[in-house]
Amino acid sequence: MTDREDFPTSDPLGVIAALRLEVAQLRESVHVRDEFISIAAHELRNPMTPLLMTVQSMRRMAEREPEIPEQLLTGLVRLDRVVLHYINRCNSLLDISRLSSDRFRIEWAEVDLAALVRSTVEELLPYAERAGSTIDLAAPKILLGVWDELAVRQIAENLLSNAIKYGAGHPIIVSLTIEQESENRESTLLEVRDLGIGISAADQARIFAPFERAVTRQQQPGFGLGLWVVGRLVAALGGTVQVFSDSGQGSIFSVRLPRDQATRPG
Ligand SMILES: Nc1ncnc2c1ncn2[C@@H]1O[C@H](COP(=O)(O)OP(=O)(O)O)[C@@H](O)[C@H]1O
Ligand SMILES: [Mg+2]
Repeated sequence: MTDREDFPTSDPLGVIAALRLEVAQLRESVHVRDEFISIAAHELRNPMTPLLMTVQSMRRMAEREPEIPEQLLTGLVRLDRVVLHYINRCNSLLDISRLSSDRFRIEWAEVDLAALVRSTVEELLPYAERAGSTIDLAAPKILLGVWDELAVRQIAENLLSNAIKYGAGHPIIVSLTIEQESENRESTLLEVRDLGIGISAADQARIFAPFERAVTRQQQPGFGLGLWVVGRLVAALGGTVQVFSDSGQGSIFSVRLPRDQATRPG
C-alpha cells in the first residue's frame, strides 16, 4: 500500500492519517450501500405480498373449477411461481443486508420449535408436492426453548427448501429431538434429510460461504446464500450446523442449538 503514488513514503504519519481517512470513507460508503440495498429490497418486495395472495387465491379458485380453460390455469400456476420467486429474491437481499450489518441482533424469546417447524413444513408442502416429494416430520408435540423466532424460521425454511430443490423428488425426512449433553445442558437437534443429488466432500467445504453453489443456474436457480444465512444464524444462536452427504447419496443437514440461554456456552 505505501508505495502507492498518493501516499508519499517520506511521510509515514501522513500515510497513516490518509489511510485512516480512506478506511473511514470506505466504511461509510459500505454502510450507505447496505442501507440502500435494504430500502430497495423492502420497496421492491412490499407491493408483491398482496399480489401473491391474490394470485394464490385465484389459483385455488381456478383449481376447484372444472370448466376453467387449461391455459388460464397454467398461467395462474406460472404467475404464482414467478411472484413467489421474486419475493424470495427480495428476501435474500434483505437477509444479506440484515446479516452483514451491525444492526443484526438476536431477539431471544421463548419459542415452540415444534410448532414452528410444523408450520414451516406445512407452508412448503405445496412446493414439495410439485417437486414430487413427500415430507415426513417426526417432532414432539411441543418443544419450548429460548431462541429467536425469525432466525429459527429462516434456518428451517432454508434447509427445507434446499431439500425440496435438490431432493430429486424423493421423500424428505425432518426430525426434531432433544439431546441431553450433560446434566444441565440440553440442546435441540433439527435434522433435514433428503435422498437427492447429494454433495461431494469438496463442495461441502465451500457451500456455507456466500454465493458458493455446487450446481449451475441452469440446473437449479439460486443465489448461493441460503446456507450462508443458515450458518450465520446458527452461530448467532450459539449452535452448530453439520452436513453429512456424498454425490448422489442424498444429504443430511443437522442443526444443534442450545435449548435456552442458561445452557448456552459463554
Ligand atoms: N440438500 C441439498 N442437496 C444437495 N445440494 C445442496 C443441498 N443444499 C444445498 N446444496 C448445495 O449447496 C449450494 C448452496 O446452497 P444455498 O446456499 O442454499 O444456495 P442456493 O440453494 O441458492 O443455491 C447449492 O447451490 C447446492 O449446490
Ligand atoms: Mg438454497
